[in-house]
Amino acid sequence: MKKVGIIGVGEYLPEKVLTNADLEKMVDTSDEWITTRTGIKKRHLAAKGQATSDLAIRAAKAALEDAGLKPEDIDLIIVATITADMPFPSVASIVQNALSARNAAAFDVSAACAGFVYALSIARQFISQGTYKHALVIGAEKLSSVTDWKDRNTCVLFGDGAGACVLGETKSGGIISTYLGCDGSNLGLLNIPAGGSRLPASHETVDNRMHYIKMQGNELFKIAVKTMTEAAQIVLKQAGLSFKDVDMVVPHQANSRIIMAVAKKLGLTEDKIYLNIDRCGNMSSASTVTALVEAVKEGKIKKGDRVLLDCFGAGLVWGACVIEW
Ligand code: ACO
Repeated sequence: MKKVGIIGVGEYLPEKVLTNADLEKMVDTSDEWITTRTGIKKRHLAAKGQATSDLAIRAAKAALEDAGLKPEDIDLIIVATITADMPFPSVASIVQNALSARNAAAFDVSAACAGFVYALSIARQFISQGTYKHALVIGAEKLSSVTDWKDRNTCVLFGDGAGACVLGETKSGGIISTYLGCDGSNLGLLNIPAGGSRLPASHETVDNRMHYIKMQGNELFKIAVKTMTEAAQIVLKQAGLSFKDVDMVVPHQANSRIIMAVAKKLGLTEDKIYLNIDRCGNMSSASTVTALVEAVKEGKIKKGDRVLLDCFGAGLVWGACVIEW
């Protein structure tokens, strides 16, 4: 089995920024409520006409440049997303065409906020087996397109963006361990009820605002803390490591209170946790990867560091990963 590492990173956040002050003018909320309950101060929103693939392509180009590779060097493109441009084809196909990555197979993965870790795990398998040499793994979302801007329970939480990693063989370190899980019995806690084969779009579904994210945040909060704590413990045990061996934790960024509650349970100090939720909100599949990219670009993750990714989202699904940089 070959060792597989991340050899290039890139991100793209749309130029438009929506602050908590802007939201105060749209729904009955306050900067104080949003900041203290979630840790979010602002989020990026895609421009009108900009789709998820447009964000993914920008992040992918940045990651390719960082890796020093050409599009034709890529054998596999996986896009983690829950906001594809259209039901089909995949965002990955659109990215493959836009990059002229003519040697790459391409598909999407739907695992919400754990999507990036799911995609990373799949790509790692292909490279470690020797099937492919280089994979582009992207997390990209335009959550603003499925956000109900009249619902204060959800509209303050989400943002748009994309992050990308190039995976390839590495001589040392790389991805040490991955752990994925799912509990489909709680899928009603977080979903978009209509627009799929169960409830295709109709006047009724549109009138009832059923094409937007519905979430029972309070219930999810408790499950998220428990699940992310357990996932981190399991993936580290698999790796034969303990929390003192970890230099940086990059968690999914749904709520800074969830992250700090997990950190407390695991005995982790704040300086070991990378957050971008304050400036990006929750970008689902794009959250963990953009936070990872930013931590690397800011020099907070350096060669030889051990990084723990820890994610939880709609499904319910979760995923954790240990990487030696
Ligand atoms: N502004 C002001 N008040 C608000 C707002 C708002 N934007 N939103 C809700 N409130 C009110 C509620 O109406 C409620 O009022 P009430 O007590 O009079 O009924 C009160 O604030 C408390 O509401 P809660 O839902 O209990 O607030 P909570 O502290 O749980 O925070 C939140 C809500 C931020 C959604 C939190 O529960 C959370 O982060 N949940 C987890 C989300 C998550 O992990 N999702 C999975 C990943 S996302 C993905 O996969 C796409």
